[in-house]
Amino acid sequence: MHQPDSVHSHPLHSQPAPEGVDRRAFCLGTLAAGLVLACGGGGGGASTPAPAPPPAGPLTTTDNKANLLAAPDGTVRDYRNLGNFFLVKDAGGIYAMTAVCTHMGCIVGAPADSKITCPCHGSQYDLGGANLVGPATQPLVHFAVTEPTQGGFLVVNTAATVAASTRLT
Ligand code: FES
Repeated sequence: MHQPDSVHSHPLHSQPAPEGVDRRAFCLGTLAAGLVLACGGGGGGASTPAPAPPPAGPLTTTDNKANLLAAPDGTVRDYRNLGNFFLVKDAGGIYAMTAVCTHMGCIVGAPADSKITCPCHGSQYDLGGANLVGPATQPLVHFAVTEPTQGGFLVVNTAATVAASTRLT
């Protein structure tokens, strides 16, 4: 996959690649190490470095609209393995929300007791993504959810953010 040139101008990459090491591989390795350090440092507790994110874009879930709308309010489908997001049903309808913590990018835990907790430094969010406890200060972003074919699986576009109030009904 082609990497944007900006990857190579990151401060982490100012040192030359060791001899015999492909420059791109070296840069990516250095970047990954930097992310692990950034995510794992300073918390003193359990750390979960963020895995490489999937490419942003439309991702097909295994839920359809009718079934999810019929589920109880507060139902959460965990799609962290597919694309680091949750699909949630509340009184207003269906929404999708990132599982990437707004503090330093760790993947948050599964919702429990209507709260979502980040394992890295303890930030908490409510089921709508509002930030409850720091160090994060920003809410979890929401993504566009569509039903491309009637009755078919829902598609979440992780490249398209929407207002937190947006619902599929
Ligand atoms: S990355 Fe620090 S609290 Fe989530």
